[in-house]
Amino acid sequence: MRDYAKLQRDINKTLGIDLTAYKEQQMRRRINQWLDRHRLSSYDDLIETLGRDREHREKFIEYLTINTSSFFRDKRVFEAIEQVVLPSISKNRRPRIWSAGASIGAEIYSIAMLMKEAHFTPGLLLATDLDEAVLDKAKAGVYLPTQINGMDPKYLAKYFTQMSNGNWAIAESIKSLVVFRRHDLLKDPYERNFDMILCRNVFIYFTSETQKRLITNFVQSLVPNGYFVVGSAEQIMDPTSFGLQRVSYCIYQKST
Ligand SMILES: C[S@@+](CC[C@H](N)C(=O)[O-])C[C@H]1O[C@@H](n2cnc3c(N)ncnc32)[C@H](O)[C@@H]1O
Repeated sequence: MRDYAKLQRDINKTLGIDLTAYKEQQMRRRINQWLDRHRLSSYDDLIETLGRDREHREKFIEYLTINTSSFFRDKRVFEAIEQVVLPSISKNRRPRIWSAGASIGAEIYSIAMLMKEAHFTPGLLLATDLDEAVLDKAKAGVYLPTQINGMDPKYLAKYFTQMSNGNWAIAESIKSLVVFRRHDLLKDPYERNFDMILCRNVFIYFTSETQKRLITNFVQSLVPNGYFVVGSAEQIMDPTSFGLQRVSYCIYQKST
């Protein structure tokens, strides 16, 4: 019998990741798949390997945290951001925007490109993630051809350069707009005064109690009338109980 409670404690000690906040069934299944794939016989075996093998540790964190992302992911949401949210929050000030669970940076770079196109100047474009390896990739801003699939050719031509190995590097003019920082949504304090926060395809993995705690934190971090953007599978059932109102598909606004 695999002792999941002990594994949760060991993972928290070894990697600093609090598995108790994530949906148990899904996590157990993923971890068991990892054990099978790497021929590890037990959770203790896994912890021992994570302790001595840095590469295994990095790969495991990447696997566990599920880093899938893409540019302009969910076009409908980005259309509303471009047409409604960005003009509204850029009207009287330089807006502060936070992409939480930013993964490879595709989301925040998409926002940065939209702002550049509209001649809006950000006060802050902050991108955070728990996983340092994925943040390094985001900071490098180099993408495989599969990762830029489906992007409007206009953006590709204007803001990317194809390298000799076929990968695409994002322009310095976009990269330099973004600040990347490691931040654990479960443990670290939340910065305040954001005009828009995007946390998409992240809290789907958390238990419903954790989701509520995180949404409450995000709302506190928004300025009055600030916007909160979630993933398509993360619609908030009772937005008013958090002081939010739904303004568009996947987009909520802080009531006051
Ligand atoms: C599926 S990606 C979503 C990327 C992007 N937001 C999008 O929608 O395309 C989920 C990201 O959440 C990050 N993540 C998971 N748990 C986290 C936590 N406790 N704190 C911060 N980031 C976390 C993962 O490392 C991963 O990069």
